[in-house]
Amino acid sequence: MRFFVLFLGAAALVAGCANPGTPALNYTVPLQPEGASAYVEKPGWATQRFAVAAANPLATDAGYQILKAGGSATDAAIAVQMVLALVEPQSSGIGGGAFLLHYNGRVVDAFDGRETAPAGATENLFLDAEGKLLAFFPAAVVGGRAVGTPGTVRMLEMAHRQHGKLPWATLFEPTIALAQGGFRVSARLNALLKTETELQKDPVAAAYFYQADGAPLPVGHVLRNPALAEVLKRIASQGGQALMEGEVAQAMVDKVQQHPSNPGTLALTDLARYQPLRREALCHDYRARARDFRVCGFPPPSSGAIAVGQILGMLNATQAAALPLENGVPGADWLHLYTEASRLAFADRAQYVADPAFVSAPAGRWDSLLAPTYLAERAALIGQGPDARRRETAPPGTPGGEQSAYAPMADQREYGTSHISIVDGDGNALAMTTTIEAAFGARQMVNVWPGLAGGFLLNNELTDFSFAPTDARGTPIANRVQAGKRPRSSMAPTLVFDKTSGALLMSGGSPGGALIIHFTAKTLYGVLNWGLAPQQAINLPNFASLNGPTLLEEKRFPASTVEALKARGHAVRELELTSGLQAITRSEASGKVQWLGGADPRREGVVMGD
Ligand code: GLY
Repeated sequence: MRFFVLFLGAAALVAGCANPGTPALNYTVPLQPEGASAYVEKPGWATQRFAVAAANPLATDAGYQILKAGGSATDAAIAVQMVLALVEPQSSGIGGGAFLLHYNGRVVDAFDGRETAPAGATENLFLDAEGKLLAFFPAAVVGGRAVGTPGTVRMLEMAHRQHGKLPWATLFEPTIALAQGGFRVSARLNALLKTETELQKDPVAAAYFYQADGAPLPVGHVLRNPALAEVLKRIASQGGQALMEGEVAQAMVDKVQQHPSNPGTLALTDLARYQPLRREALCHDYRARARDFRVCGFPPPSSGAIAVGQILGMLNATQAAALPLENGVPGADWLHLYTEASRLAFADRAQYVADPAFVSAPAGRWDSLLAPTYLAERAALIGQGPDARRRETAPPGTPGGEQSAYAPMADQREYGTSHISIVDGDGNALAMTTTIEAAFGARQMVNVWPGLAGGFLLNNELTDFSFAPTDARGTPIANRVQAGKRPRSSMAPTLVFDKTSGALLMSGGSPGGALIIHFTAKTLYGVLNWGLAPQQAINLPNFASLNGPTLLEEKRFPASTVEALKARGHAVRELELTSGLQAITRSEASGKVQWLGGADPRREGVVMGD
């Protein structure tokens, strides 16, 4: 089921072929829609054999064409990621990092392409000369300071070696064709360019994204990126080495180290030595509607799976399961329980979660934070019943009974990111969340060859570390900056299985910084507990607490709900809360399996499949 019904006809660009003897891809550039970026209702999708969900129609379409050509879920994810780097450059790309959770029909693997702090980074990275914390924006974000060693390409290369079917080079054909032939600037890209204040200060980015009078490129403008096409051609033929060594690596290093006001330390050795990692997925049992599930997510350095699992587990130890949706949205009693569970989960996240190569898990195991007895103990702190009020403070717990040697990390801004979910026709599935951190990352566009326009953006992922290395008493913070360390993430790519049969039931995830945890938890809860199709679950209004105020998506909840929460002592803030969820779920009717797909109406994503 292809969402584009028309093709560019004579203008269709047919890209090159794979090696003899391997399936070929005849990539066809689709007709490109000019979608809106505001809340746009999505139909929800149903497919029979395979499905791909991504944040931009051109990216989804590339994944679809790869699957049609016999590619695996991993092959499709690589093609989708490369197109996203071109058409959704604000969110992810070859200058960033990603987590990929893969299921091959038997086991779940977690591929870690998180950025690392360069060898030259110290715990004082985000302190000024007087030892005060830098302002987050623009001081910390913009320039070379926060650029981590990018890991997405190396990680995808590792995943491809394990799970790829089509030749590596074939997976770059869609993006090279689009970068050379041009793609239409989407409404979302245009809207974000309009609100930018820093990107246009980078001369390469200014020349690429803005017109001579300083106005952003309009919606529908056909934008070409020959510089990115050239880098991708080299990665396609030589592998990740073409990015991490040689002249492309040198251009990244120059961009970071020679930034005129805010240089960083990224060096050729950081790039050459970068290693993606294969980790064990973090899985836990979950019960909803008298059915047992196994929920698998990404372990630290991501805090996503732990926080999502804690919230769901604590809710299960409260009266939440007895509370249905009220007129199609969560009611005040349920939101009280949810946000109180969230506050406790975020307190643990601030206390414990960081790169496992640098900090030990509480009680020696990350799943101590998900142990049912521990979560029941934590849930007992939540006030229940009609008169229960919000707690004054939500402190961290002591999983496994061990006191932490670390101080909690203060709340910090987090942003960015894009999510991809795919199931292929051979029983493989994946959930991949990918990022350059802030929208447009560090606002630094790398151009290797001045004669070619465009390039790629560098991440500012190091701002996901704690700016403060210690608390006021000098106790270290687990997620402080250290050379070679991976910053804590909130990314929560998730795969859900039926615990009894082992069948894959769902792949999902979202962008949104720390709010990723809430957007993902909402969608899981909607599907597993309220029995919603993925599109309906994604459509539900967003809500959150980061252990501060109770956040509600503006204009989506009745006034009576807001008032009821305030009466319970919640400080309510109504905000945009723009998620970018994508999810695919398995559904079975009369013995026939189908895949239901959903894409967030708040962004430009679509689902495709056959
Ligand atoms: N920078 C977004 C995340 O990793 O959570």
